[in-house]
Amino acid sequence: MAQNRFIPFSRPWVDETEIEAVGEVIASKWISTGPKTAEFEQRFAEYIGVKHALAVSSCTAALHLSLVAAEIGEGDEVITTPYTFTATAEAIGYTGARPVFVDIHPLTLNIDVSKIEEKITPRTKAIMPVHFAGLPCDIDGILDICQEHELVFIDDAAHAIPAEYNGHHIGSIGDLSAFSFYANKNLTTGEGGMITTNSDYFASIIKPMRLHGLDKDAWARQSNRSIWYYEVASQGYKYNMTDIQAAMGLCQLMKLDKQHEIRRKYAQIYEAELSEVREIMTPQAEDLNPIGKQATSVHSWYLYIIQLQTSQLKINRDEFIDAMGDRNVECSVHYIPLHLFAFYQKRYGYQEGDFPNAEFAFQRVVSLPMHPGLTEEDIYIVIDTIKKILR
Ligand SMILES: Cc1ncc(COP(=O)(O)O)c(C=O)c1O
Repeated sequence: MAQNRFIPFSRPWVDETEIEAVGEVIASKWISTGPKTAEFEQRFAEYIGVKHALAVSSCTAALHLSLVAAEIGEGDEVITTPYTFTATAEAIGYTGARPVFVDIHPLTLNIDVSKIEEKITPRTKAIMPVHFAGLPCDIDGILDICQEHELVFIDDAAHAIPAEYNGHHIGSIGDLSAFSFYANKNLTTGEGGMITTNSDYFASIIKPMRLHGLDKDAWARQSNRSIWYYEVASQGYKYNMTDIQAAMGLCQLMKLDKQHEIRRKYAQIYEAELSEVREIMTPQAEDLNPIGKQATSVHSWYLYIIQLQTSQLKINRDEFIDAMGDRNVECSVHYIPLHLFAFYQKRYGYQEGDFPNAEFAFQRVVSLPMHPGLTEEDIYIVIDTIKKILR
């Protein structure tokens, strides 16, 4: 019988604090990019432990600007994973470069570093891994390859706040990192993103590009006597963040460690209760990629993804998710491998069968409810529901 309470897969963790902060910005009448955005950038950089944080309108914009700053364009190749949201490869496509997919490791679901070098050609300019679900990928392994082949390391860190790798926050390692503050992320501004880098050079290029290539934004101009004057310094984009978003981001940043603590606790409960279930493979909490150097990671637990051992079940993954839904537990699937979409097949010539590990995982993965708005009781209801269905 269905349990009564609906358990949502994901919900933003927002309350009166965000409502008040956003209200104050609106009341101030300075509602686009301004002092709140600057404050959010500064606090974010301090939190991550990185020199520059540059706020933008989305992670997709952050990825695009990072690629443009690295001078990636027509005819170039960027190595990435097919097991991601389309935004990762889409941003590569914006520049005219080709996304070159490398299959994933079946345990971590992160890019398989041992398979990267065979895909490097004279056209390869960058490696863009995703820290899938919030599990840091084999960064040392990738950095070694980047160094040897003189490639730029741009990480798609959409899932990876506040993940850590060898004691450093994701976003403070490598050349450029792109974060997402979309509605369901660990830190949300509704829509939004951030680029982090320790490079003064990359920061100086990206800064004006976020707003039409202007040398001064409206806030910088109004604090100056020549309010109307600006130079167009470079080719730019309309990718700036607003102070309304930044006000929300500042509140979310204050709560980030607390919400991560809750996610960690829930991940531990899931692991304790589900790792013994024969038909389920629970996710790796640390990068166990046996190919790279051993690293200590902190998972962000943006997603908690189990893999069903479907050969041992009478139902398939879709039927399992439907059965969970019938019992008021909402689940999801991350992701449909990009090479299975008609667009990627038509534009880049990929086809089914190209990345067997990604396809195998896709048939089996289930993302369970995971967000700080759930109670411990909710987590046990999810576990109980799974066990009942599998029985
Ligand atoms: C791995 C990955 N990269 C990029 C994005 C795009 O983020 P945004 O919606 O902020 O552009 C997402 C969105 O969920 C994502 O999952």
